[in-house]
Amino acid sequence: MIRDEAKLRAHYADPPEGICLEDIDLDRMPRHVSFIMDGNGRWAQARGLPRSRGHAAGVNSLREVVTTSVRLGIDVLSAYAFSTENWRRSQEEVELLMHLFATTLVNELPLFHQENVRLRFLGDISQLPQKTREVFEQGLSETEDHDGMTFALAVNYGSRAELVRAARLLANDVAAGKLDAEQIDEDLFADRLYTCGLPDPELLVRTSGELRLSNYLLWQLAYTEIFVTDVLWPDFTKWDYLRAIRAYQGRDRRFGGVNTA
Ligand code: FPP
Repeated sequence: MIRDEAKLRAHYADPPEGICLEDIDLDRMPRHVSFIMDGNGRWAQARGLPRSRGHAAGVNSLREVVTTSVRLGIDVLSAYAFSTENWRRSQEEVELLMHLFATTLVNELPLFHQENVRLRFLGDISQLPQKTREVFEQGLSETEDHDGMTFALAVNYGSRAELVRAARLLANDVAAGKLDAEQIDEDLFADRLYTCGLPDPELLVRTSGELRLSNYLLWQLAYTEIFVTDVLWPDFTKWDYLRAIRAYQGRDRRFGGVNTA
């Protein structure tokens, strides 16, 4: 994606100690950065606040990550907002999150227009409460002509369910005579995933120190560099984002081969 260098420098003016924009190589940026936003509950708990306040604070971090991704010229940003397992949380928390997703999307649509961001969802959004689904569908249609960054939000997403769905879609095509089983290869399989048409993430950032993938993008993360920070999601800033990219650029990516450098 084309990046506006002046806006990027302004965005990263006034660096704190230990990190600055010059620490990263703008010619070697990841195309797709993905986030597991974790730690909202612990952030709230540490302050004696209800979990809802942690999620509300998490919205601010996500907004900053969206803007920062645009400034950095990232092509695809993805984030894990709600897993197929998250339905097991209390009814109160699930309802709160669904409401928060809907209101946030409405509130942030002007930002997506201003920054030319195209919205996508990963997961089965047909199962969401009607209001949330309607707002999501509005977000999809209102941003479908935007050709800047793609922002893919995983909601009611589970990677195993996604893989089973892909297998079922392929099996249906084979049964209908549209496809020969021998033709199935990695590209055809990837075309049946929710991420169809998107590059795999080069960098996955997980906040709050957990060392798990939590059923997230298991296929797509095959060669992804993983950066885990102890920072809780509501505390995550554009500077933490730079730290993640600096760490990514310091890695030796071999894709199973040997380093030729
Ligand atoms: C993890 O915190 C975060 C989530 C359950 C995802 C929800 C994310 C947000 C509300 C951020 C904004 C996103 C959107 C799309 C509006 P947790 O509850 O798992 O934290 P814990 O592990 O500390 O309990």
